Amino acid sequence: MSIHYSSNFFQAKRKYLSVTWEDFYTTRISDKLDFFFRQGRLFDVLFSQQFDREFIERIFTITNKIRLVSKTKYGADFLRSLLAHKRAMLYFVQPSTRTFLSFHSACQILGMQTAAVQSIHTSSEVKGESFDDTIRTFSSYFDIIIMRHPLEGHAERASFVLNRTKRPIPIINAGSGKDQHPTQALLDIFTLMRSFQPIGGIDEKTIMMVGDLKRGRTVRSLSYLLKNFRNVKIIYSSPDEFRMNSDIKDFLAEHNISYTETSEFEKILPQADAVYMTRIQDEHDQAGESKKTDFSRYALRLEHLDLLKSNSIIMHPLPRRTEIDPQIDNDPRAVYWRQERNGMRIRCALLAHIFNLETKILEY
Ligand code: NCD
Repeated sequence: MSIHYSSNFFQAKRKYLSVTWEDFYTTRISDKLDFFFRQGRLFDVLFSQQFDREFIERIFTITNKIRLVSKTKYGADFLRSLLAHKRAMLYFVQPSTRTFLSFHSACQILGMQTAAVQSIHTSSEVKGESFDDTIRTFSSYFDIIIMRHPLEGHAERASFVLNRTKRPIPIINAGSGKDQHPTQALLDIFTLMRSFQPIGGIDEKTIMMVGDLKRGRTVRSLSYLLKNFRNVKIIYSSPDEFRMNSDIKDFLAEHNISYTETSEFEKILPQADAVYMTRIQDEHDQAGESKKTDFSRYALRLEHLDLLKSNSIIMHPLPRRTEIDPQIDNDPRAVYWRQERNGMRIRCALLAHIFNLETKILEY
């Protein structure tokens, strides 16, 4: 099957063909979005900045429809027929439970066959094959690559490499080092939207993000995505050593999004409409820096529940360690298990978008 490119893709491709990887990688994301876009749709999904409000609403409409359709056998059979002719490579060379399994399940819901490489040690990279050649090889056998990598920029590199070949296939970033996790941000926004539906949606709400903000990619991607909502206020609560990086703060300032930073935790809880807890990302330690910081203060315990508003919500991308006492799981404000489940359907809707199935699904 040949892939038909739209003229805007050809223009974008031509524009970038002579650009070196270094120049491409350091170009502002907002200036190269056309490279990842094709025929009116996202082709590669790499950054949260690729999603605007219209896209978010569109994906959520598809997500809700998929949820309803998949409830009956006929509906589930219909969904499974949609991508039965496609194959997905799950290239996850960094630990993952939820993201891997939810993408895997999303592929299954749409009938796509999958293969997985979950360790560099079982890939020919161990024989010295370059990352570029490994990715090119995947494109010989598969129709999409869903990838998680411990290093920043590798998903973008994969897109850069494949878009120069005759057989580019879409790349979805399922977590790139300390940098971004765009599909997590989508499911986080979906969870926020659904939870806040009875109280006016995400606009005007205060979102408190807690923990290792410096190295947590979920809070970074979510911060970018909040640009699509009106008068949102972000409160970053972390130890001083693990504050949010300046690139995100610059982005927020540029888009007039209000944020504050604090090393307080408990005191701030009454202000929050959503408390988004995260764990310490000690896999990124260079010299045991996590051990030098007392993180125990940044944990939600049973006694904190009285401090929270009655209609606030508690979120966590999971996995958790001690940031949330498991006894809190039964509190109606704890939405992290629902958040986790939302991931599967959101990812299904995203695949449907990439493979141009939205109309078929909506018409069912
Ligand atoms: C997050 C991740 O991998 O960045 N997990 C996830 O995808 N649900 C958060 C984390 O590992 O702390």
